Amino acid sequence: MQGEGSPLIPEYHDSGDPSLLGIRVPFVRPVLPKADVIARLAAEIIGSARLTKGPYCDRLETAIAERLGVRHAVAVSSCTVGLMLVYRALDLSAGSCRSRRTPGDSCGVASLDSLSRFGVAKTSNRSEPLGEVIIPSFTFLAAPAAIVWNNLRPVFVDVDVQTTNVSAQHVRAAITPRTVAIAASHNFGNPCDIAALRGVATEYNLPLIVDAAHGFGASMHGRPVGGGGTVEVFSLSPTKLLVAGEGGIVSTNCDCVAHFVRLGREYGNDGSYDALFPGVNGRMPELSAAVALEGLRQLDEVALRRDQIAGAYRQELRDLPGIGFVETLPGAVSSHKDFSITVDPTRFGMTRDGLRRVLAAHGVETRAYYDPPCHRQTAFEHFYDRSRPLPGTEMLAARSLALPIGAHVDAAVVRDVCDIIANAKQTA
Ligand SMILES: Cc1ncc(COP(=O)(O)O)c(C=O)c1O
Repeated sequence: MQGEGSPLIPEYHDSGDPSLLGIRVPFVRPVLPKADVIARLAAEIIGSARLTKGPYCDRLETAIAERLGVRHAVAVSSCTVGLMLVYRALDLSAGSCRSRRTPGDSCGVASLDSLSRFGVAKTSNRSEPLGEVIIPSFTFLAAPAAIVWNNLRPVFVDVDVQTTNVSAQHVRAAITPRTVAIAASHNFGNPCDIAALRGVATEYNLPLIVDAAHGFGASMHGRPVGGGGTVEVFSLSPTKLLVAGEGGIVSTNCDCVAHFVRLGREYGNDGSYDALFPGVNGRMPELSAAVALEGLRQLDEVALRRDQIAGAYRQELRDLPGIGFVETLPGAVSSHKDFSITVDPTRFGMTRDGLRRVLAAHGVETRAYYDPPCHRQTAFEHFYDRSRPLPGTEMLAARSLALPIGAHVDAAVVRDVCDIIANAKQTA
């Protein structure tokens, strides 16, 4: 990590002034290209009069597909919209997809008659059972929202408490004849066990949809995450390592899914103005694409710096009883989109919420991701089957605390935050 009091990554500037809000250490601040670079891009785009559907979007898609090693990267207006369009696209692709990466390595879409049978095609008939999508409850609320928007039923399963990600065992135990898809995520940028999950998906001929919102900057065995699922969907919102302002990327090797997502982001219009299905305006504006393209050049540097900050936090906190860390799988490198710790109230002597209050009193902003977990949220609780206990999820929801991370956090800030944590009981 850079030295004490060192500046931010030099080519970048740190935006906003949270001190005006009484926050001394903000939770996150976006890492953006310098203002003069953005101004130049904005002037060029305005001058060209192509504010959308232009060359920057195309260039961003090409650059990201190359980086991730996938056939298609489709730029959309947000990760949430991307996920919504993916479930719709998978339904539309059912039975028509011929994409294969290697012989015997089905993308899962070919067998998606089941999704049509239970899914969006039946939205008008409420008596039909809904197709089930297996999804961890310990994830961000946009993921089950995309499922429910497509008239599918989220089946909430537990996660592995070490990695915070859903495991193949959890998924396998929840598969029923009504299962139409498996949803996973790289929580906090920590790559999930994609090989094992893909194994289950292939065995049951199901598509694997990965919420890779936190994925830019993460890798598995030296390869950026994004090509392991049938489809993976990234976010480019301001809390991420790669920022467009708002935006998302749908990454897939499946030609059909990419085709339908492209149509779906364009109202379902293939240019004939005879909508093929009800789509949305899910396009990414040119300026957002240009900002992300510029950011892509610095992504590895940004990721390395995050990793160093995370290492410094671990070093400072490792001897504190009751503080736990998110563990990565062998070969995995987290993007550390979030640096999340767990607080064992008995061993630490204070609850997560108590510690959060102490940090807030010192002007340190934190987040309690994901509390409440999805299965207890108003929009989704009626889908939850109470006979399926989720002890790992409940434990993580009660104990997880994400600490400030980003370009504004250096060695001095880490020490400051960790000192407050170490002395929390005395100052509470
Ligand atoms: C895990 C996860 N999934 C999905 C989303 C939604 O992303 P977006 O805001 O780009 O729609 C987020 C947003 O932060 C997220 O953290």
